[in-house]
Amino acid sequence: MNLDIQSPSLTLAIVGTGAMGRGIAQIAAQAGIHVLLYDALPGAAAAARESLVATLTKLSEKGKITAGELAEVKGRLEVADRIEQVAPAQVLIEAIVENLEQKRQLFCQLEDIVLPDCLLATNTSSLSVTAIAAACKNPARVGGMHFFNPVPLMKIVEVIDGLSTAPWVGEALLALGRRMGHSAVRVKDTPGFLVNHGGRGFVTEALRILGEGVAPFHAIDDIMREAAGFRMGPFELMDLTGLDVSQPVMESIYRQFYDEPRFRPSPLAALQVAGGLLGIKTGRGFYTYVERQRQPVTQVPVPLNRPPRVWVSQAIPEWGDVVRDLLASLGANIDMDPFPETDSLCVVTPRGSDATTECLAQGLEAEHTVAIDCLFPLEKRRTVMTTLLTTTAMKDAAHGLFGSDGVPVTLIGDSAGMVAQRIVACVVNVACDIAQQKIALPADIDSAIRLGLAYPKGPLSFGDALGAKNILAILESMQAFYGDPRYRPSPWLKRRAMLGVSLLTAAND
Ligand SMILES: NC(=O)c1ccc[n+]([C@@H]2O[C@H](COP(=O)([O-])OP(=O)(O)OC[C@H]3O[C@@H](n4cnc5c(N)ncnc54)[C@H](O)[C@@H]3O)[C@@H](O)[C@H]2O)c1
Repeated sequence: MNLDIQSPSLTLAIVGTGAMGRGIAQIAAQAGIHVLLYDALPGAAAAARESLVATLTKLSEKGKITAGELAEVKGRLEVADRIEQVAPAQVLIEAIVENLEQKRQLFCQLEDIVLPDCLLATNTSSLSVTAIAAACKNPARVGGMHFFNPVPLMKIVEVIDGLSTAPWVGEALLALGRRMGHSAVRVKDTPGFLVNHGGRGFVTEALRILGEGVAPFHAIDDIMREAAGFRMGPFELMDLTGLDVSQPVMESIYRQFYDEPRFRPSPLAALQVAGGLLGIKTGRGFYTYVERQRQPVTQVPVPLNRPPRVWVSQAIPEWGDVVRDLLASLGANIDMDPFPETDSLCVVTPRGSDATTECLAQGLEAEHTVAIDCLFPLEKRRTVMTTLLTTTAMKDAAHGLFGSDGVPVTLIGDSAGMVAQRIVACVVNVACDIAQQKIALPADIDSAIRLGLAYPKGPLSFGDALGAKNILAILESMQAFYGDPRYRPSPWLKRRAMLGVSLLTAAND
């Protein structure tokens, strides 16, 4: 097949001119591609063109594109009033409603209209490309091109090969995505493809932590933003996306993977949907909103209490040293004995375990013990975990001491893996298993998830930065404590942690 994606005369048809079709049309026309816009709703394609022209005019007024470019881009956007008018296109991207039957019917209809070697791509986000293509006479020319909303800003596109897609089709769609200025990654046809699959760990584990009563939702958000470095906490994210969107995606991916425990949804999210508490759009989700502004949540004041002395566990020596250094800078009286004095506050530094398990393993009194999360930096927020027996006096003293330099402290209940360790270990593990299943190349998994989900790092690089051995130890401790296969480490993670190599390392095969 000799389709030249870089050709100045390339014509792309967009069928379905809602939010996605428009966004794809914009970046294509800006990349010098002639675009034919078609929508089944009379007048919709023309309205889409008008709205695109208005957007581009604004860009020109802001100096983002020149007046000359504006005129050229406008000239490349053409409305097709009848579906037969998409016939000259060399590539077609479908962005109609997310319905398998309607997409199949459309593709069958298009086969009789377009050129015999016109590429047909679907922008589906949740349907199987293989299933859409199956109804076609020539499924080899059908592939997926999954863009994200808003298309001009979300600079990532997944190119999906269905089981029958010819390899050159995927290559051409990758080149097309790149020509449009996006980072294009090649993905196997699997539920959730790459980015939506990769996002499973973050929100579902946060819901589990909430469901377990470890911490309130806003505290989990605070920890994930300020300690783990995510742009948005999981509950803020669900409120922004809308629970009516995120809950069905959680259910669907879980079911499509035949009840994979790693993706198990939470009844808490289902309840939000049942109650119509969908997020920003309804004025209440997990948070409450007035005119789309999130209302503040009451914070617990930092007590003035201090412990008479503090003993720090050296079970993980480097973390013990970090805590001792911090305590010294806070002016604490540090108990350096191998075993704590009877009045010492005991601080443990778990890696995947809970405070109770640490007390028993180290012969400490649960009443005097708290834990602190040292996997993440302690500069912006500190997570302090109590046992169920930690006395109020010790709890207040720990809170007062760890918060005495103005760095916020979040107190949480006992939990194997605390909060950030749990969520990040699940995020890394899901990404590792995507790599293990060869759904995409390791570097593509990292870049697509970082760009698609705005994570601070790609999940595999994040695992490397925190230490693959640490992530493995966290998951193993959680699995041992909860007995839940949800936490079983992916073979990809296990082998790379054991061999001491990067999680981005592909097998030599
Ligand atoms: N909105 C998102 O965030 C997002 C992200 C990625 C992928 N997607 C996928 O992109 C596709 C479009 O999403 P959207 O949000 O733009 O939808 P939308 O509902 O805003 O627009 C769909 C458009 O398709 C038209 N249409 C419906 N049936 C048609 C047909 N048979 N032929 C021609 N036109 C038809 C409708 O009139 C409408 O203008 C869906 O498959 C969706 O899953 C959406």
